[in-house]
This record gives sequence, structure tokens and C-alpha cells, in this order.
Amino acid sequence: MTLRLDYTNMLAPAVAGGVPADAWHSARTDFARAYAAAAQQRASGVLGFLDLPGDAGLRAQSQQFAEGRRGMYQDVVVLGIGGSALGPIALRTALRPPMWNLLDERQRGGFPRLHVLDNVDPRTMLALLAQLDVARTLFIVTSKSGGTAETMAQYLIVHERLRTTPGVDPARHLVFITDPRQGALRPIAHREGIPALDIPSNVGGRFSVLSPVGMLPAALIGIDIAAVLDGAAAMAKRCEPDDLTRNPAGAYAMLQWLADTKAGKHIHVLMPYSDALREFAGWFVQLWAESLGKMQPGGTSVGPTPLAALGATDQHSQVQLFMEGPADKTVTFIASADREGDLEIPAAHADAKDLGYLGGKTLGELLDIERRATAGALARRGRPNLTVMLDRVDASHVGELIVMLELATIYAGALYGVDPLNQPGVELGKQFTYAMMGRPGSDAAREEWDTLPRPDPRHAI
Ligand code: PA5
Repeated sequence: MTLRLDYTNMLAPAVAGGVPADAWHSARTDFARAYAAAAQQRASGVLGFLDLPGDAGLRAQSQQFAEGRRGMYQDVVVLGIGGSALGPIALRTALRPPMWNLLDERQRGGFPRLHVLDNVDPRTMLALLAQLDVARTLFIVTSKSGGTAETMAQYLIVHERLRTTPGVDPARHLVFITDPRQGALRPIAHREGIPALDIPSNVGGRFSVLSPVGMLPAALIGIDIAAVLDGAAAMAKRCEPDDLTRNPAGAYAMLQWLADTKAGKHIHVLMPYSDALREFAGWFVQLWAESLGKMQPGGTSVGPTPLAALGATDQHSQVQLFMEGPADKTVTFIASADREGDLEIPAAHADAKDLGYLGGKTLGELLDIERRATAGALARRGRPNLTVMLDRVDASHVGELIVMLELATIYAGALYGVDPLNQPGVELGKQFTYAMMGRPGSDAAREEWDTLPRPDPRHAI
């Protein structure tokens, strides 16, 4: 069996606040529209992420680079942000043993640690650089556009560090992952002999995890990327039917869109009950937020607000809000049928009411029962939820999950009437940054910046 979607708790009247029965019954028409739009996008070549699982050449770029450099590095550092960072972080946490970076070299099977510097907070960067032996470190500079300020700033710092370290050839400690033709990194790679892997032109940042963006760091730390990509291919195939009840990405997108637009569920929580998928929820948040939070062509703002949670941890943090706060949320649980390793709870203190009942059960059992209990409790309170059930958290299932959610995002874009592949809303902030940092060609942004209200001392305490 493979990934399974149980949406029983999404539908009214079984769950009072769920998707109205008539809306779900007539969803076929809306889905036909979304399906046709996605097919048209596919035909026009803009959905390059769907070609990634079957792109043997691109897969080989990551595999060959990783094999060729095996044993050379203790540490791999990704410099990147947004879609260039969240995928590698999610893959490391999901598919390597817990606390990977704290294990010694033998425990890591000789594979390096993986750090992802996804911010320009100098404190973090200083701390990491102080820890590294740059002579045994590979820096992966990932930027589709090859011009993102944060990543370029990190690169300049690292390049200088490599250049000034005696005995180190920077080209042996750098690899770029970028657009095959555009951006500042390609010419630098040519000039300085730095290897460069491709992000196909028709693959955008948050849809790029199955390109070398995710696959190179994954291969370097020993993740079976062939299994990830095969799982992804299997899910892409599974999502071929135009029948909503047989297309998991279609069903997911449609249920969330109906919940938002017909039942007022504007906030979509992703809550894995697995520490391995903790960071995966962060990857999903970016995918859903940056793709769907948009203005329609007519100027109407639409889009759900994604939220990451973790079970059982957030039962003691956010679940109170999900249960009794505004009835504006859906919760998607991710469950795993099998766990790699489980831990029996010893049967001591049998006479203590709060402890005795736990003895002889396992932690995995407790976690799973808590998930089912939370789902049931939410349903009872009229809070719709659905469960994505995995056989286990492994490379193949993670590949499936990635494509299901990516494709769901494309369908949801069509349903919301927005382009899920762009992000015009981040542009103005970027332009203001360029203006204040003195980037050439920023005069118009500078002028606009100067018209903004200045801090008013009467409105500060
Ligand atoms: O999803 C996206 O397109 C963005 O989040 C980008 O990944 C992010 O802005 C980084 O861009 P780039 O890869 O061009 O440096």
C-alpha cells in the first residue's frame, strides 16, 4: 500500500463545520476546471517540477557529484533561502537519523553533516563558520535567480573565507545550483571553475526540492534519492485521473478550497505526528502560502493561511485554539503506520493511576492513539480534519507526499483563480531593500520609500 488520504472528518454533516455535502457532491465541475487548467499549464511547459522525477540526466548530476566527492567533506553547508532552503532542511530531518549533525562520523556512515543557512542573521553565520573546518567543508550556493540578496551576501562571505584560507582551492569547496542560463552565478562558475548544477528554467524555488536543490544535499548525506524520485513519480502517476475520488492531489486541493470558500476555514494546519516530518510542515507552509496567497486579476485578495504544528507536542500548545478558538481551520494530520524503532514503556508504579495504565504500551502507540483521539475530538467539536496515512516515513513516501502537495497547490491555484507559480507580493520589499542598500537601478524604489510615513515619536512607547 502507499500513501492514503482519509477525509471522512472533512465532510458535513458527519462533522458539523465541514465541507457542505452539496458542495462536495458538485465539486466535480470545479475540479474539471482545475484539472483542465493544470493540463493546459503542463502542455505549455510551465510545470517543470512534474518532469523532475523522470529526468535521469538531472538525477545523475546529483548522484555523480555526490559519489565523486564521497569522503571529502565533514560538513556540507547550503547557502540559500525560501524554496532553496526549506526542501533540504525537510529532507535531512525526515530521512536521516534524528540529530544527524550531532552524530560522529562513524555513526553517520562517513557521510557529512548538513547545515542550511537560510537567513542572514550574522550571529548564526558567525557561529557556524567558527565551528567549521573549511578545508573539509563543501558550500552549496543555491539560487534559482542567481541574484537573491541574502544568498549572494552569504556567498561573498564564504568565498572570502575560502580565498583567504591557506591551501584551500575555493572551486573544490563550492558548488552552485542555479538556472542553466540566467543569473549572476553561471558566469562566476564559468570564470572560476566552480561546478554548477541545474535548476531547470521551468522550475521555481518552492517547487524545486526534487531538482538538485534538494537532491544534491540529500545525496551528499546518503539519502536514497532514487527512492525519493521513484516515490514522487508513482504519485504523479496516481494523480493522473480526472476523477476527484481517485486523484489524491485533486481531493486534497478541492477539500481545502471548499473548506475555505464554503465553510470559512481559512487556516490550513499541517500537523504531522512524527518528529521526522517536523520540518516538512515548514516546507508545506511556504508552498501553500507563497503560491496561493495572492490577488486575483480583478484585485480581490484570496488564499488560505497555512500553519505548521507537530503532534503530540502542539496538543499542549495550539490544539486548545484549534478546538475552541475561531472555527476557521482545517487540520491535516500526517500519520505513519510503522515506526522505525519503538520504545516500550516499562510497567512500573502500577498502583499510580497516572502512570500504571502506560506500562506495557509503546511510545509509538501512545503517539498514534493521541493523534486519533485529537482527530476524533476535533470532529466532535465540528472542526474538520483529514489524515494522510503513510506506511512509514521513508524516502519513497516522502517523495509521494512532496508531489501530492505540489500538485495540490497547482489545482488550488486554479480554484482560487491565481497563478501559483509567481510571487509578485515579495517584490516591493525587495526593491526597498535594494534602494536602501544602494543597488544600482533602484532610484524609483528610493523615491517611493521616501514618501512613506516616517516613525512618529507620538506613536512609540
Ligand atoms: O519559491 C520561491 O520562488 C522563493 O521562495 C525562492 O525560492 C526564494 O525567494 C529564493 O530565490 P532564489 O532561489 O532565486 O535565490
